[in-house]
Amino acid sequence: MTLEEIAKKMCAKGKGILAADESTGTIAKRFKSINVENTEKNRLVFRQTLFSSEAMKNYIGGVILFDETIKQKTTIGPTVPELISKNNAIPGIKVDKGAKPLAGSPDETVTEGLDGLRERLKEYYELGARFTKWRAVYKIGNKFPSSQSIKSNAHALARYAALVQEAKMVPIVEPEVLMDGSHDIDKCYQVTTNVLNECYNELAIHKVDLKGTVLKPNMIIPGSDSKDKSNAEEIAKKTLDCLKKNVPSEVTGIAFLSGGQSEIEASKNLNEINKINDTNFLITFSYGRGLQATALKAFGKDQNNQNNIQKAFDHRAKMNGLSSKGKWSENLEKEAAA
Ligand code: 13P
Repeated sequence: MTLEEIAKKMCAKGKGILAADESTGTIAKRFKSINVENTEKNRLVFRQTLFSSEAMKNYIGGVILFDETIKQKTTIGPTVPELISKNNAIPGIKVDKGAKPLAGSPDETVTEGLDGLRERLKEYYELGARFTKWRAVYKIGNKFPSSQSIKSNAHALARYAALVQEAKMVPIVEPEVLMDGSHDIDKCYQVTTNVLNECYNELAIHKVDLKGTVLKPNMIIPGSDSKDKSNAEEIAKKTLDCLKKNVPSEVTGIAFLSGGQSEIEASKNLNEINKINDTNFLITFSYGRGLQATALKAFGKDQNNQNNIQKAFDHRAKMNGLSSKGKWSENLEKEAAA
């Protein structure tokens, strides 16, 4: 498959991406919230339960894995990437080494992981990965994000993306403007505009073929502590407008992060965006919490009740699959709950 074909399959209409690439530290927080011990076995069991569910075949085009997970063998036989491929989804891998304090502006971060990346990419390709992820993080504050943060993160994202395409994989380019803070929706719009512009400047300098990329952006949304109550229509309108103005039309797929929105908000907002999508971008989800929150709770209740965990995950994946086509509705959520 060409890089463009891979990107199209990851974001195919009715499908999206499962972000199951929580680092060992992040999954520790998730497991603590459900009182489950953070062991390698428990991490494997939770994830293989999701990867072997019905929803994988119908609603998931790709799965982002963490270094530990892509090397694991499931308890049911195949390796994790084999299990994902068997269900007709593409295995992917998070390759950044995390957001570290930015020298000169230590309250902000720059994402690290370029050293030795070429060698690691080769290994991941051999393990079955066909796409990758690198996440840059920007916070909104009085003086933030600084131009230093915007420039250094864009430069790293572009060098990463160029190396990934050299290794014949599709880079997910993830510049995440965080929801934290009391800023209004227009501030999010303005910051996201600046961030996207700088990213696409750098991607051009580094000769990245945009057809073989997927953008993973935040939606344009008010800060989580804001009094501003935007509705889904306004969020959708401003998000699509921002993407149309700042993302080159060659980009194949746009797969949003959920970023702390509730599962229902994340589905509803994606649905509204697709209802008015008049672009050629394949617009879908690349959710972590937005796909796994209820399934994780079910896992906390009974780790051996595979049915309940899969039921929760299947439902969320189906709802988001519908949202990727603008066909989701609140009633479908209610029917499932009844
Ligand atoms: P959330 O959907 O939970 O924000 O996670 C997506 C992700 O992969 C962030 O990098």
